[in-house]
Amino acid sequence: MSIEKRVFGTTKDNRDVYSYCITNKNSVSACIITYGGTLQSLKIKDKHGTLRDILVGFDTVEGFEDRCDYQGVLVGRYANRISGGSFEINGTKYNVTKNEKDITCLHGGGEMSSALWDVRVISENSVEVSYTSPDGAEGFPGTLKTSVVYTLTDDNELSISYSAVCDKDSFINLTNHAYFNLGGYDSGDILNTLLTINASHYTPTDENSIPTGELRSVEGTAFDFREEKAIGRDINDDDEQLIMCRGYDHNFCLDKTEEANIKAFSPSSGIGMEVYTDLPGVQLYTGNFLNGTQGKKELPMYKHAGFCLETQFYPDTPNRPEFPSCLYKAGEEFRSTTSFKLFVK
Ligand code: BGC
Repeated sequence: MSIEKRVFGTTKDNRDVYSYCITNKNSVSACIITYGGTLQSLKIKDKHGTLRDILVGFDTVEGFEDRCDYQGVLVGRYANRISGGSFEINGTKYNVTKNEKDITCLHGGGEMSSALWDVRVISENSVEVSYTSPDGAEGFPGTLKTSVVYTLTDDNELSISYSAVCDKDSFINLTNHAYFNLGGYDSGDILNTLLTINASHYTPTDENSIPTGELRSVEGTAFDFREEKAIGRDINDDDEQLIMCRGYDHNFCLDKTEEANIKAFSPSSGIGMEVYTDLPGVQLYTGNFLNGTQGKKELPMYKHAGFCLETQFYPDTPNRPEFPSCLYKAGEEFRSTTSFKLFVK
């Protein structure tokens, strides 16, 4: 095990961005950068012994500053969307940033994802990033102190453990927005990747990607990933939800299971992963809006170049009392862990 610190680059306003790369005994490595507390790369040897970076994203600070669709960044205070950019707590209405079409709040307005996070090496295989979001940032109540620990084990498991405390009652929903391509970031699209999601229901949305409130059964639909299937198998079905979102961009309601909540496998590279989470939902987003933006090694990232598994509370929970609650009292700690267990076969 080793952790290597480097200067990753410099922001436009001249602040240094550092990377911390954790490498295990199998040459698997995870690099975290202080910009956005981002998981910037995740490398593992494929079945042919070639080292592959399985995250689509950027290798320059400029990419993150100018062209980012949340590639690998930490997302808060409220991952995913809040309808109308407003909600109520204890009778007080809060208006948060409407950064999507001036209609909805997406990913908490983006503040945390573009901030420079503090960093601390906490053991030979874990790095903690932390950030304090000031009271009222993007309209959210209270000062929020967040810490996220990335740990890579010799079993090739990368865990991301989140902890956050606010000094006012607040909704908290944190996630990581990595775009995976298990064939390698430079291997084309992810439509042949095999995916399993242990979810019997998902939350269909309106035209602004806000859940309608319905928990719809996946049975007999393109959203049924309970048996392993290629991401692309049904993605072009004549289903209004898929047409509206140009592919999958939906929250799946995870079933209780002892097994992995999600599995993904690339037949071409032989690289796969099991995903475990304690959160009730996951947003499967198949990179539908990527439009050729220049990414790592100046390669363009096209539609479906990667897929995200954003473990989360359901979208718009602040306005949906029937959804599992993510209202945290002042001083009450939000804690959650999602882990990605890589394998090769
Ligand atoms: C959203 C997508 C959005 C993407 C990048 C995902 O979490 O669900 O609609 O395009 O983030 O912003």
